[in-house]
Amino acid sequence: MAKKIVAGNWKMNTLKEDAQKLASEVVNMTKDEVPSDVTLIMCTPFIHLSQVKSLVGSSSNVFVGAQNCYTKTSGAYTGETAAPMLKSYGIDYVILGHSERREYFKESNQELAEKVDIVLANDMLPIFCCGEVLDEREANKQEEIVGSQLEESLFHLSAEDFSKVVIAYEPVWAIGTGKTASSEQAQEMHAFIRGLVEKKYGTEVAAETSILYGGSCKPSNAEELFACPDVDGGLIGGASLKSRDFIDIAKSY
Ligand code: 13P
Repeated sequence: MAKKIVAGNWKMNTLKEDAQKLASEVVNMTKDEVPSDVTLIMCTPFIHLSQVKSLVGSSSNVFVGAQNCYTKTSGAYTGETAAPMLKSYGIDYVILGHSERREYFKESNQELAEKVDIVLANDMLPIFCCGEVLDEREANKQEEIVGSQLEESLFHLSAEDFSKVVIAYEPVWAIGTGKTASSEQAQEMHAFIRGLVEKKYGTEVAAETSILYGGSCKPSNAEELFACPDVDGGLIGGASLKSRDFIDIAKSY
């Protein structure tokens, strides 16, 4: 069975005090309300990682993630953050290939393959984002696009390494737009992704791969989305900035 995961992508939001408050609320509410088989991850801006990691402490089902890292381990790369630095702060997960990074920072499938490798080499777990833009969906090319994103950034991995990757399917047209993919659309793409993983790595690895849905996921639609057989959880943007909403989503299984 794939792990149930609800990950919050805070994006470039929250000041120091907001981050502290949000993270403490999430930790406390998780203790009281969220079943222990649900994994919660808070992916915060780099600058808050250390603070949030301290607040999370040794919680057994709340983890901390970064939203990106660089392809090199150290050196003269002003402004970048390396995977070993994240690891040294006890960070567990790293989001890679978010559509905002692909669009604004021109991250390619090839560069993302390098980032996936460096995150795994530093004993952290990638949350690898894939998804099509609206034009591609309208041209019915979503499978082709997502297929090549997985093929070019992930399918060079050994089965052992691949089994550490979390996949997040985020149709770009549903991100921050309030327009969620229908549960049928989400299930169809998740089943397609699991099918590709099965073809490449076999039934067992495919069944154990967590495939999260992202794009305007909120308390009011999470239950229907998470009820789809191939949707193992969510990557949550806007709603992860409100502890009540984030926790309610985590209680939607
Ligand atoms: P929203 O939930 O705000 O649509 O963002 C989704 C997302 O991009 C998560 O990574």
